Amino acid sequence: MLLAEASEVLSEYVQHSQQQDTTIFRDKPPEILRQELDLSLFPEHGVGKSEIWHDVRTICATATNTWNSGFLYKLYAAPTPIGVVGETLLGVLNNNAHVFHASPAGTLIETAVAAKLAQLAGFPSQTAAGLTFPGGSYANLHVLMTARNERFPEIKSAGLCAVASAKPVVFTSCHAHYSIDKAAMAAGIGLDSVVHVPTDQSGCMDPVILRRMLQDAVDNGQTPFFVNATMGTTVLGACDPLDAIADICDEFKVWLHVDGSWGSPLALFSGDTMTPTFKIPQGRINSLTINPHKLLGAPLQCSFLLMRDGLNVMRRALGLGAGYLFHADNPDATDDSGSLDLGDATLGCGRRPDAVKFWLMWRYYGTQYFVDRLNHARRMALQLADMVVQRDPNAYGQWRLVSKPQSTCVCFWFVPQWLLVSGREGPDFDESLDLATRKICNRVNASGQLLMDYASVDLFKSCSSSDDSCQKTIDNLVKYTLPAFFRIPLNNPDVTKTTLVAVLNSIEKATRELYKDK
Ligand SMILES: Cc1ncc(COP(=O)(O)O)c(C=O)c1O
Repeated sequence: MLLAEASEVLSEYVQHSQQQDTTIFRDKPPEILRQELDLSLFPEHGVGKSEIWHDVRTICATATNTWNSGFLYKLYAAPTPIGVVGETLLGVLNNNAHVFHASPAGTLIETAVAAKLAQLAGFPSQTAAGLTFPGGSYANLHVLMTARNERFPEIKSAGLCAVASAKPVVFTSCHAHYSIDKAAMAAGIGLDSVVHVPTDQSGCMDPVILRRMLQDAVDNGQTPFFVNATMGTTVLGACDPLDAIADICDEFKVWLHVDGSWGSPLALFSGDTMTPTFKIPQGRINSLTINPHKLLGAPLQCSFLLMRDGLNVMRRALGLGAGYLFHADNPDATDDSGSLDLGDATLGCGRRPDAVKFWLMWRYYGTQYFVDRLNHARRMALQLADMVVQRDPNAYGQWRLVSKPQSTCVCFWFVPQWLLVSGREGPDFDESLDLATRKICNRVNASGQLLMDYASVDLFKSCSSSDDSCQKTIDNLVKYTLPAFFRIPLNNPDVTKTTLVAVLNSIEKATRELYKDK
């Protein structure tokens, strides 16, 4: 039977992928991979089993290996094996969580897991609820559209022209994930009406400036309706100051959403000992996005949007109640199954019951697994940051931390020696360091033994001599872009000190090889 054989082939792949010396990434151009995968072949008649296992093995051989601790590339890592069982189960069941009767177990699990997460986020147990979405971006889109329609209910039928004079406007920090901008674009708010609030040097939104910008918007006849704060920014892993932002949102009566796609598990599961700034102000935020497929190891995709005031808010804002699917008039309905038709609270129709795989993980490992996993990630991040700070400069270059890690991302430079001796630091230095980081990173990745990434962010410095924070305005801040740096997210539980040493050694080795003639 195909399914039984699949288990063997896939287990073999996982075992192989976890070995120390396994290739993580094959740095081959698309045209070579296209040939290896035989993508021109669409047979008239089926090719049969042995050819299919050959295809599956080829796909595995050309895939990026996320099962290895050397995969330090993005904000997700190896999926947990029990998560993969859940993923497989979803495929086998093929249940659709748009209406209760098409996915009874999946629906009940989704509502229970979402309610539990929402309670951990401090939402009142009577109303705490949520839904899964295929990714944090979709969760953010749904909450922005919900907040928009709650504030301007007439949009639902009359469209945006009905509120043109109100000029709706959205606020988020300049380090927020681009999904907030895309959500505003999709919601018809427009990119020009997304205000990007500057951050401090560690990447946290500046609440004094947020307040100023909100006031400016109101004074200019705009209507602020949505503030997004980020818990765990995509690059620096910073957490915006939620208490201060909540005060401001109360004052201006705007929806406060927290995009905790990356960092909110730290607030929900690890207590405040490891990351004290990752704390959700009790009951003061309207909604939260959390992605168990990032820090918690659920297989892609597994993301929740959690709502403080229940799912009816989403139903009201986004639902249409199409009678051919959502049978609110079912004469034999004797229970609450109608309110469990989750699809109508979304912009979509068919949905995977993704919560099932996270629920199986939670049952199998228990909450303590999440706590241990997060604490390990945090310890590894602090250890890597220490190693960067303490590692002596050598013949190849000098290590510099971008900022103290606030959560589980470590950002740093390795400044090549030739750049250090070539003169004073300034725009040329920044440009050269930017290029060097990107080339070094590519070279490390081409080795196939590690896969890591680089990034850059904008920061702001004050051009005024006044220290009075009340005088702070966007006008006396100057934006500058940091040269690209290495960004290492530590979310794989198999990462050890050996992995961290390998990261630093590989960067030094790549630098030496690249610049041996300089
Ligand atoms: C802070 C933050 N929000 C949202 C997202 C988007 O999540 P997804 O890739 O699941 O759509 C990311 C992705 O990295 C993120 O870092």
